[in-house]
Amino acid sequence: MTKHRNVYRDRRDFLRLAGSGLALAALAPSMAAAQTPAGGPLKIAMIGSGREGSALGTLFVKAGHPVMFSSRNPERLKDLAAGLGPLAQAGTVEQAVAFGDIVALVVPYTAIEEIGKAHASALAAKVLVLDVSNPIPRRDGEDFVKRVNDQGGAGVMTAKLVPGAHIVRGFNAIGSGQLAGLAHRAGDPVGVPIAGDDAKAIATAEALIREIGFEPVLVGGLAMGKHLVPGTPLGGVHTPAEIRKIAGTLR
Ligand SMILES: NC(=O)c1ccc[n+]([C@@H]2O[C@H](COP(=O)([O-])OP(=O)(O)OC[C@H]3O[C@@H](n4cnc5c(N)ncnc54)[C@H](OP(=O)(O)O)[C@@H]3O)[C@@H](O)[C@H]2O)c1
Repeated sequence: MTKHRNVYRDRRDFLRLAGSGLALAALAPSMAAAQTPAGGPLKIAMIGSGREGSALGTLFVKAGHPVMFSSRNPERLKDLAAGLGPLAQAGTVEQAVAFGDIVALVVPYTAIEEIGKAHASALAAKVLVLDVSNPIPRRDGEDFVKRVNDQGGAGVMTAKLVPGAHIVRGFNAIGSGQLAGLAHRAGDPVGVPIAGDDAKAIATAEALIREIGFEPVLVGGLAMGKHLVPGTPLGGVHTPAEIRKIAGTLR
């Protein structure tokens, strides 16, 4: 547990309070975000525990959350989990989906269809599916990325591939190697642009993001998720004010 963490009695408290942030969010999102409590031992499943998934999951563990890192070959993750102590464990994708109150998708974007097909109903029951994945031409192919963009881009597409899930895109364009160093930065915090349509999922994501030392900035609904990819104006490291300014120019 770190000093940054507020402690709530149980996960129900966290979810109730995150949910209550919603009503406020409808009235004044920035105020509600400041009042949304971060904390509570939420169980977090990392689907994809490569460079970005392991770095982000490590921050969740350090904030005091039980995290299951998953792989199709979980043996590979035993050292990572062991090095992080008792809050961390390694499992299969199936085990992680069953484990998490929150599921983070940190996989090549091409894998989301398969994951959605295999786990749609379980994922739809989670309070938050954090979509960190991006369609990347160099990795996924120009044709694939064009198909995603033709259907509204990452965000809208993730909602189609994982129907019913409460999706928030976030952390899409902050490099894995930078996360630990940027967390809890002195002075202006690093902003994390997020996009989502579900108020409770947004409130939960905002709480988690603050807890691990960043400042969430809601830039719009999932349709804005197409702007949360590397190499775009919102990509990289920005202050919250910079993100708001850039987001104001995007449609
Ligand atoms: N790297 C970054 O700095 C960064 C920053 C922001 C966002 N992202 C995004 O995060 C995603 C992952 O990037 P990465 O750099 O972390 O990639 P990576 O190091 O190659 O890790 C990819 C992970 O995805 C898992 N995976 C692949 N196909 C899967 C499937 N069909 N089912 C379940 N798991 C599967 C792999 O698990 P196995 O062990 O099973 O192979 C592996 O853990 C990408 O969409 C990327 O655009 C990356």
